[in-house]
Amino acid sequence: MNSFKEKLSEYISFTETNLKAYNSHSPEMMAQKNLIDAMYYSLEAGGKRIRPVLVYAFCNALGGDYKNAAAPAAAIEMIHTFSLIHDDLPAMDNDDYRRGKPSCHKAFGEAMAILAGDALSVLPFEIIADDDRLDAGRKLNIISCLAKAVGREGMIGGQVIDMENETKTDVDEANLRNMYRHKTGQLIAVSCMIGCICAGADGDRIKAAADYGFRLGLAFQIIDDILDVTSTTEELGKPVGSDEEENKTTFVTLYGVERAQEIANAVTNEALAYLDKFGNDAFLTELTEMLLKRKN
Ligand code: IPE
Ligand code: IPE
Ligand code: MG
Ligand code: MG
Ligand code: MG
Repeated sequence: MNSFKEKLSEYISFTETNLKAYNSHSPEMMAQKNLIDAMYYSLEAGGKRIRPVLVYAFCNALGGDYKNAAAPAAAIEMIHTFSLIHDDLPAMDNDDYRRGKPSCHKAFGEAMAILAGDALSVLPFEIIADDDRLDAGRKLNIISCLAKAVGREGMIGGQVIDMENETKTDVDEANLRNMYRHKTGQLIAVSCMIGCICAGADGDRIKAAADYGFRLGLAFQIIDDILDVTSTTEELGKPVGSDEEENKTTFVTLYGVERAQEIANAVTNEALAYLDKFGNDAFLTELTEMLLKRKN
């Protein structure tokens, strides 16, 4: 195995271990067992764990000990999982399959899926606040950035634009870029920023990490749109053709697969340019290129 693949699997297994460690059922919580089962059903179903990997990779690129970033990395994966549980609900994208299994609402019912998502939106802030590896100043900075990236000016704001676009016939590229920046870019960018904060980076570096992350996030979402029309449910672990069914305008519906891929390539190059602020870190470079060629 080459060192990129080794490092990637080390980061992923560290993430899985930490997520498991936060899955505690104390005897007093037996009354909420269904909620906790629903949360961990989705959290432990798999997924690429790209956001925690970005946290570790940026921390490592700046000379920090990535293990100190365990809590915020797990926190971001929880927020991301909450976004997927709610995204799949009948009131949103209405998808019955996720991470190779029935969606949370298919397995546990709609009400429990809504509540599991709700619980996964607040547990992250609890685990960061209670973490004993980071100092109070860094934790406060992380909590502030993460809350902004998730809320009305972040991912949730982006999901609103996505939903409202379903009934519009004039969605253009500027609208899509803005929507993607919010629904996907914000969580990816904040993962990069938090990796830097954990390493004690200055504001310039944190800003460069965000600039990189927003471009990576845009490319990542364009590839997601492409896979929705070119891949299979088996390979993706989620339904294909969902965007057409929900009347989404995407880079594929605007420009076709080939041109959408060209735009993703160009945006990935823009992202790579920001890595010069991180010594063109080899792991980050390879990760960025891998995400452009991903098949799921
Ligand atoms: C899916 O994200 C939602 C998008 C932002 C496109 P991922 O493709 O990272 O999903 P998992 O975590 O691997 O399941
Ligand atoms: C991803 O949008 C954005 C969030 C889930 C926040 P999609 O709706 O395209 O994601 P998938 O394709 O269902 O994973
Ligand atoms: Mg969606
Ligand atoms: Mg969806
Ligand atoms: Mg999609």
